[in-house]
Amino acid sequence: MTDFNQVINRKQTNSVKWDRIAATYQEEDLLPLWVADMDFFSPSFVTDAFRKFLDTGVLGYSEPSDSLYQAIIDWQQIQHDFTVPKEDILFSVGVVPSIAAAVQAYTEEGDAVLIHDPVYFPFSAVVKENKRKLVRNPLKEENGCFVIDFAAMEQAIQEHQVKLFILCNPHNPGGRVWNAEELKQMGELCEKYGVILISDEIHQDLIFEPNQFTSFQNAYDAAGKFSIVLTAATKTFNLAGIKNSMVFIKDPELKQKFVAVQQKNHDNEINTFGLIGTEAAYRGGAEWLAELLDYLAENVRFVTDYFHEHLPQVNVMTPQGTYLLWLDFSAYGMSDKELEDFFVHQAKVVLNTGISFGPKGTGHMRMNLAAPKATIQEGLTRIKTAFDSL
Ligand SMILES: Cc1ncc(COP(=O)(O)O)c(C=O)c1O
Repeated sequence: MTDFNQVINRKQTNSVKWDRIAATYQEEDLLPLWVADMDFFSPSFVTDAFRKFLDTGVLGYSEPSDSLYQAIIDWQQIQHDFTVPKEDILFSVGVVPSIAAAVQAYTEEGDAVLIHDPVYFPFSAVVKENKRKLVRNPLKEENGCFVIDFAAMEQAIQEHQVKLFILCNPHNPGGRVWNAEELKQMGELCEKYGVILISDEIHQDLIFEPNQFTSFQNAYDAAGKFSIVLTAATKTFNLAGIKNSMVFIKDPELKQKFVAVQQKNHDNEINTFGLIGTEAAYRGGAEWLAELLDYLAENVRFVTDYFHEHLPQVNVMTPQGTYLLWLDFSAYGMSDKELEDFFVHQAKVVLNTGISFGPKGTGHMRMNLAAPKATIQEGLTRIKTAFDSL
């Protein structure tokens, strides 16, 4: 059994999560529950594979092996009932860089690109940085979780002549695991209006029972013709720092356009740790993942109960997947800046501001629950003490 309770001192390791905040906020003793990596050890079957490689003493160029391809194919098939032939698999330095490559491959400057609101903030950044027109489709909240306003989505596609839609499947920050019917409806709209769909499936393994992840390409028959899937082992197995990901593309023309951008930028190769880490994670990871999900589910329950009991004005969105919790503090009537300052300077806890995920994120914060329970408890105590003093 993995001991996820172990508290690890990550300070002064150049960790973005732990070491960047003091300089950003000019404040000592902050507790970081923000950026999406985990305060758990990466699994030993991955670090052992790295050690074995280091013991060879030679760190020259390497390329993807057949056994790596097979490990990816098997993982998608066994975990997600998703058949990915070897020829559909490309590698990339990351999911966000792949989104940028897709935007460049499939659209021109000025073209409209659709995203949900709120959604993982690099989506909007990539669209704007590449001088495309950003179109946001606000998500609705029903029965305590996000749902898609399909009528508004269709209207936005028509009105702005949307060329590309970037889907977060499952959804960060709301933890929604889109079901097959919702994915099918999104597929129908995209096919009807000739929109290319990018499905970011990096959180695909982090699903709480009884919810079930469906790849976009499994939900809609014609999906392969107008969509690509992006995923990685990095989020699931806490390997984000080794920066690598996969791209699954069925359609030859979509593949050729994507590869052309990668080649133009000479960034179609990933580092050796990415190759080794991905294979080791997918070959040895099923049991570790099951244990992780049990631990995360318990953290979700614990935090949700805590807010209900001690801070009932905070509206908690129960995640169906991911280790991220979307919290609504709007009952306190603070501006987004006041809310951020309150967390940093009063509670001394760093969360992601909701507003960074889009206008619908106003009054919200996103909390990362992938940490030992003691760390989460400490964060909650700090938050409660700060709100009690208001
Ligand atoms: C939805 C989503 N996509 C992509 C990423 C980052 O992917 P990468 O580090 O491979 O660029 C994250 C990280 O939190 C994420 O939540």
